[in-house]
Amino acid sequence: MRILRTIAEVRQWVRAQRQQGRAIHFVPTMGYFHEGHLSLMRRARDEGGAVIVSLFVNPLQFAPSEDLERYPRDFERDHQLAQSVGVEALFHPEVGEMYPEGYQTLVRVPKLSAPLCGRSRPTHFDGVATVVMKLFHILTPDRAYFGQKDYQQLRIIQQMVRDMNLPIEIVPCPIVREADGLAMSSRNVYLTPEERRSATVLYRSLRWAEEQVQSGERDACTLREGVCQRIAREPLARIDYVEVVDAETLEPVEQIEQPTLIAVAVFFGKARLIDNTVVRP
Ligand code: PAJ
Repeated sequence: MRILRTIAEVRQWVRAQRQQGRAIHFVPTMGYFHEGHLSLMRRARDEGGAVIVSLFVNPLQFAPSEDLERYPRDFERDHQLAQSVGVEALFHPEVGEMYPEGYQTLVRVPKLSAPLCGRSRPTHFDGVATVVMKLFHILTPDRAYFGQKDYQQLRIIQQMVRDMNLPIEIVPCPIVREADGLAMSSRNVYLTPEERRSATVLYRSLRWAEEQVQSGERDACTLREGVCQRIAREPLARIDYVEVVDAETLEPVEQIEQPTLIAVAVFFGKARLIDNTVVRP
């Protein structure tokens, strides 16, 4: 596996792959890999392209009060894991390589960035869209793989690709969970053992909502209240939001008539965890 530190090295590597007639399959990440990340990499590999992963903790998507400094990092472990699933190149740039002195341009997808996580993290998705747009221009992938764990992020990237006419296929990938249902996340390491146990309430509450819809419940308010109540019963949980929105527009719905996203963001101690499910009538 090649480790690429500069944009010039990436461009050279991509050119060499293309000369061999290979498609470029790209998995953007911030590292500290878990099975969720690895599932994206395996999928990218199984779909037959030359797989390149970016590992960059993007300062632009963290607010000053957020966890940029303590975001977990372990390059050696990530290197081994990526290699073990057949990744061919790892792009691991310094901050100055991506944002040199004097950098200013931002990419914004305003409507999809406003609700849900955008309410408590108003600049977050500008940072995400900007870094992903830069990575797309640097790597020129044919396909890029995104987890549905970060559902709003996925929708924003799909919209950006469409609006900017990028010739890139965005491949959504299912949420990978621990045995007890907790969605895998690099941020789960922030949880104390007690918080870790309470955090399973997120998946249990979403499962409850799925079952309600399966048995005919169509009222968004009932679902939202039910999920809120279940989470609120956990003393260690502090709800940021519980929302029931159209899975495409992310606008609130009253009835489940189309594919609908039920999304939650909940603090357990210092960790803010997100999870979601898409239900269909
Ligand atoms: P990061 O949180 O490292 O996630 C990288 C990719 O892994 C994202 O597409 C995310 O949705 C996916 N992922 C994370 N946990 C997952 C899980 N449990 N199941 C399935 N997929 C999962 O998301 C980012 O990095 C950044 O915002 C990035 C897009 C790299 C831009 O900086």
